[in-house]
Amino acid sequence: MIPRLKPTFSSKDLLRALLQMHACDLDTFARRFARERGFSEGLFFSSARAALLAFLESRGIRNREVILPAYTCVVVANAVVQSGNRPVFVDCGEGDFLVRGEDLLRKVSGKTAAVIPTALFGFPVAPPSFSSLPKSILRILDFAHFVPPAGKGPPHGKSTAFWSFNHGKPLSTVFGGILGCSNPEFAERVRHIRNRFPARPLRHFLNRLSYAACSLPAFTRSLFPLTRSLTSADGLLASLTHYFDPNTINIPEKSLEQPGRFEAALGVSQLNRITGIVKRRKVLYEKYYTALSDLRNVTVWHLPPDAWPSHFPMLVPNRNRFIRQMIRRGIDVGTLFPYVVPLLPAYRDRSQEDYPHARRLAAEIVNLPLLHDLTDEEVSRILEAVRRAVRD
Ligand SMILES: Cc1ncc(COP(=O)(O)O)c(C=O)c1O
Repeated sequence: MIPRLKPTFSSKDLLRALLQMHACDLDTFARRFARERGFSEGLFFSSARAALLAFLESRGIRNREVILPAYTCVVVANAVVQSGNRPVFVDCGEGDFLVRGEDLLRKVSGKTAAVIPTALFGFPVAPPSFSSLPKSILRILDFAHFVPPAGKGPPHGKSTAFWSFNHGKPLSTVFGGILGCSNPEFAERVRHIRNRFPARPLRHFLNRLSYAACSLPAFTRSLFPLTRSLTSADGLLASLTHYFDPNTINIPEKSLEQPGRFEAALGVSQLNRITGIVKRRKVLYEKYYTALSDLRNVTVWHLPPDAWPSHFPMLVPNRNRFIRQMIRRGIDVGTLFPYVVPLLPAYRDRSQEDYPHARRLAAEIVNLPLLHDLTDEEVSRILEAVRRAVRD
């Protein structure tokens, strides 16, 4: 079975990380990764949400509003609440999964401290309208899905950005996050806060090492059916993939721990391969788009030139049936994101809006596998399976 996601590291990376982790400074990976993408400072975290939380705290932002998409990963909103601020949600544009600049600007008020433009699925955010934001409002770019090759990517002025490095992301270090910024003084304050996060080095190392070692066989084509059933909602290992509780707003302790040198070294060992991985994803995306754009009943999105896709999103009218048909043909399909954050029970009381565009996405979206190591034969299999699943 073809999985929809898998770690980007190999057993060689894992061994190299084990051999080199003691010589590796905690922030070596983050600094090099961020510098190659235009930020002079990079700090490593256990997760992207921890990076966001530490940044908001470092700027003394409390009891203010932070504007973010209604259609994004719920943990971003959870981090905003945890920081003592109020998330203000913006619907996406009609027929799109990205927030329009003018809709975001309409939500700005005297209480707004920051906005989180989100490069969902690796599509770039629309910067022109952000230039009319008042200077006092911080721009915090959510680049969890957006990893351009070294030296590429749009200019981002004085923004701050964060990335995520779990198995569902363009690059995986088991778990991890980076905060990129270009002000050494701010970076130092963030580091100070990060270094106060709870540290359980041995437990953390053993947890990440065993997770990394098990992931390599678990996501192979032959063992993936077993992994899939063990980690499904009613499987024995469901807790490994269950990443939030729709009824409560919180950040699990392990996402806020100090990161370890092992994940940092795993990142360093993949730095030279990032460009190849993200370019291959772009080629795959374009192949899918060319093959599927004239299918009736499905919506797919043309890739803008400065996008670096992490996923291939597609809307299908009868999602559950589509997924069943794909699985029957040996292809795993994702549903990122099957919810609208402000309509989740934990957030319902905080907003009276309806978010119609995000609701449609949440109900119809699927993501096809966009693994960098897909063979041409597998790509043809995936495309044929989609054609049949939407026709049957
Ligand atoms: C768009 C987006 N932003 C932020 C995050 C948070 O990343 P992390 O799990 O590393 O906190 C995710 C996680 O899946 C995401 O999809």
